[in-house]
Amino acid sequence: MKKSFEFKKYLSKRIEYVNLVLEKILPKDNSTISKGMRYSVLAGGKRLRPILVILAAEFFGAKARDVIYAACAVEYMHTYSLVHDDLPAMDNDDLRRGVLTNHKKFGEASAILCGDALLTESFNLITKSKCSEKNINEAIKVLANYAGYKGMIAGQVEDTIQTGVWNSENKVLLKEKLKFIHIQKTAALMIASLKIGAILIGADKGSLKVFENYGKNMGIAFQITDDILDVYADKKLLGKKGSDIKNNKLTTLSLYTKQEAEKKIEEYMKKAKKTIAVFGDKSEIFVKLADYITSRTY
Ligand code: IPE
Ligand code: IPE
Ligand code: MG
Ligand code: MG
Ligand code: MG
Repeated sequence: MKKSFEFKKYLSKRIEYVNLVLEKILPKDNSTISKGMRYSVLAGGKRLRPILVILAAEFFGAKARDVIYAACAVEYMHTYSLVHDDLPAMDNDDLRRGVLTNHKKFGEASAILCGDALLTESFNLITKSKCSEKNINEAIKVLANYAGYKGMIAGQVEDTIQTGVWNSENKVLLKEKLKFIHIQKTAALMIASLKIGAILIGADKGSLKVFENYGKNMGIAFQITDDILDVYADKKLLGKKGSDIKNNKLTTLSLYTKQEAEKKIEEYMKKAKKTIAVFGDKSEIFVKLADYITSRTY
């Protein structure tokens, strides 16, 4: 992995593979639910979480195809979270991945049910992995724990609770709450993706811990970047309109200047890279991924 274009080539090959399989496994019939699922999953997206599954598995010598169903499973889980996040009761957004949000296209009830369908089907997908039953069982537990009420949902709940009311709270406390939101709503599914890829291949506990720390710091940096992009990005490139200010959300920019936020990204990335450095030469791909994630424009 000498030049950066090699990494980009590596990445786009895997994204292409994920997209190919997603297209193949998504239901193709004419029912409202199938159309809704295909619409939101195939609308685009960076496919970061499936890439994390594949990268972690490849790190232990497996092939992408060994974990491809698990990679698609985390993308289903992620897409469901976006469909629900955009609903009027949550962020009330009408653009996602460059197209109308699911509820704008199919109606609110259909969008809720589409999210439900993607969420439940993600567990079904993991069971199709060509790995031992014991490892599949462990991977399912990880997905349920990190995406569930102690993970991503906990973050979304705190995010919702703070919306519109955070201004009057103590700033020190708010900084802690913001970090909690970032770890839970965003980093948790990234940690889960890395762990799932590693667990399916039978990784040792020590390596899982390293992935957990790397995923946590990288995930926080990812969400700080998301908060900055919400305000400053070219919205055409971003594929969403940006609604944090309109919704009076508690985000990084509520508590820090843009410059401070950028410094925080650097700090968390440094931590992530330091953690992964214990893997020696083999860590390079994860370092490149960290740089790619925070230098993104969408
Ligand atoms: C958006 O995630 C939601 C967050 C957790 C910040 P992404 O920025 O990865 O969205 P897609 O998958 O590329 O559309
Ligand atoms: C959403 O965070 C996180 C989840 C969907 C779990 P945001 O609300 O910041 O994501 P965007 O900006 O709408 O993509
Ligand atoms: Mg939100
Ligand atoms: Mg949102
Ligand atoms: Mg956002």
